[in-house]
Amino acid sequence: MPDGFAVERIDMTCVCRAPLLSERGFFMHKSMVQTTGCVRYTLVMPTTHESGVIVFDHPLIAHKLATIRDRTTGHRLFRAALSQIAGLMVYEVTRSLPTTQRQIETPMMPLSCRVLSGAITIVPVLRAGLGMIDGILEVMPEARVGHLGLARDERTLEPHAYLNKLPRDLDSGPVILVDPMLATGGSASAALTMLRAAGASDVRMICLVAAPEGISRLHADHPDVRVYAAALDERLDEHGYILPGLGDAGDRMYGTVE
Ligand code: PRP
Ligand code: URA
Repeated sequence: MPDGFAVERIDMTCVCRAPLLSERGFFMHKSMVQTTGCVRYTLVMPTTHESGVIVFDHPLIAHKLATIRDRTTGHRLFRAALSQIAGLMVYEVTRSLPTTQRQIETPMMPLSCRVLSGAITIVPVLRAGLGMIDGILEVMPEARVGHLGLARDERTLEPHAYLNKLPRDLDSGPVILVDPMLATGGSASAALTMLRAAGASDVRMICLVAAPEGISRLHADHPDVRVYAAALDERLDEHGYILPGLGDAGDRMYGTVE
């Protein structure tokens, strides 16, 4: 490890370096987490903002993501696959949610059970984040849903906020921010700032495809937020689109592509 680099957390059984990313100034340690079927990366960057991004390495997620990336996939199938992936990812994302003991009675005897504590809030970033909500709510139907509307200016790549509908007591439990695309990171960073301003303290983010640029931006602006991604792609193009990516998620999801 070069001097001056620090690693926030490495819990691994084997270590390797991803050469693709290291060429662009990132060093990654990849840990095989056999029991959960996900690969945990710890981004090590030459900055003071180190934090973890968890990238899934699961055959079912990879298969569905291939469908989503395929340019010939129509909006109906795109939406279905996106929702299904979100449902699969939420299993790992919720692993560290707070729990409490509840006393119940089975038909046979009294039992102290572990149950979720605090109100969980899912917050999709419109439009594209909406496509991940149904899959998550199938697993956690009791979760609340807040909405943030952000549109990226295609010229400046700066996000413009047009909707903020969040529960008043966001601090009463964990918040999961949901947006399939983490490109420059501008939208996610703005969304996290809005969540913080509304009182959220325990926040994590689910995205489908992340660019290293977006991860870097998020960890600079919101170093305590853990990001879960189905894929970490190569880079952004000159228009701020993720490569290889999947194109414009909102347009592909809702069939508004010209
Ligand atoms: C997309 C996507 C993210 C944002 C990512 O939304 O869903 O919110 O771009 O880009 P960034 O990381 O560079 O900010 P978009 O602004 O296109 O709006 P839409 O979902 O309504 O199409
Ligand atoms: N927003 C998208 O929908 N796709 C990208 O590749 C980047 C931003």
